[in-house]
Amino acid sequence: MVPKEVLEAMAKPVIHHRTPEFKALFEDCTKRMQKVFKTENELFILAGSGTSAMDAAIANTIEKGDKVLSIVSGKFSERMRDIAKAYNANVTELSFDWGAPVDIEKVKEALTEDTKLITIVHNETSTGVRNPVKELAGLTKDTNTLLAVDAISSMGGDTIETDKWGLDFCISGSQKVLAMATGLAFISVSEKAWETIEKTNSTKYYLDLQKYRKMYPTQTPFSTPVTYIYGLRAALDLLEKEGLENRIKRYTKLAEKTRAGVKKMGFKLLPQTDEICSNTLTAVYSEQASDIKKQLNEKYDILVAGGQAHLKDKIFRIAHMGIITEEHIDKTLNAIGEIIK
Ligand SMILES: Cc1ncc(COP(=O)(O)O)c(C=O)c1O
Repeated sequence: MVPKEVLEAMAKPVIHHRTPEFKALFEDCTKRMQKVFKTENELFILAGSGTSAMDAAIANTIEKGDKVLSIVSGKFSERMRDIAKAYNANVTELSFDWGAPVDIEKVKEALTEDTKLITIVHNETSTGVRNPVKELAGLTKDTNTLLAVDAISSMGGDTIETDKWGLDFCISGSQKVLAMATGLAFISVSEKAWETIEKTNSTKYYLDLQKYRKMYPTQTPFSTPVTYIYGLRAALDLLEKEGLENRIKRYTKLAEKTRAGVKKMGFKLLPQTDEICSNTLTAVYSEQASDIKKQLNEKYDILVAGGQAHLKDKIFRIAHMGIITEEHIDKTLNAIGEIIK
């Protein structure tokens, strides 16, 4: 759900993207996004969905045959792996069951000195699992290996310390926690990552981060979607009004409430333990998942997501990000209760 403040901002007349007025707006949004990311690294706002930032991280660092270690435990970590393969990386896949925790010891064993990049998804939206990115960053921080973290569905909604943890690429998108329309992606780039990028001769054009760096922080190398930047400013106003830490706490409360509510009705969660459960969505296991999802939509006008790949028809996923409130969660839990009766 996109709040009315954001929709109204996106209806404003469009100004030219090379004017001083727009440059000031763009710089302001960039600086404010850095605060959300807790980073002083350069942070680029890209015209594209979240996947464009995943693509940018890999396209700018990978030459044919470079070693990439992809940690795979859901649909979106598979996507990181597939992008690396598309850029002809030599990919080692380290897989964990969907819903299982990532075992850092196994990552340690798989990591070699010549691993150029590790890819991981912080908040696996397809399974509702939060992965141990801080611990993983501990393995790469003082090495030549870069770490690319997809935080598309958790940035701003869970604790992520881009600089303190040492994340080389941290990636997010506009349509999740920010409750903005789909269409913008964000990527922060560490100094260590720049050293590699500058030495890498890879195939890229639209997502060439060095082009973006030349225009930073007031412009983008190609025309900027002004309407979306208006929307972003309004979404940031709402986030700052609530406060980043308060928003994270709100989601924690909603996550706890959702988990307790579905468990009380006899459901099992897909994540194997509560400790690895996402702060921004809950994945619930049920043989009747498709029917529950359909009835929620048709009878109660409530939209939950289904499962992906082999979990299609096996789980439904309840979001507690964006502008979702306790009232929405109560309504959803009550409706599920009525449906299963
Ligand atoms: C964790 C994660 N990664 C990547 C994506 C892909 O983002 P987009 O659809 O904005 O390209 C999503 C979208 O749901 C996601 O949740």
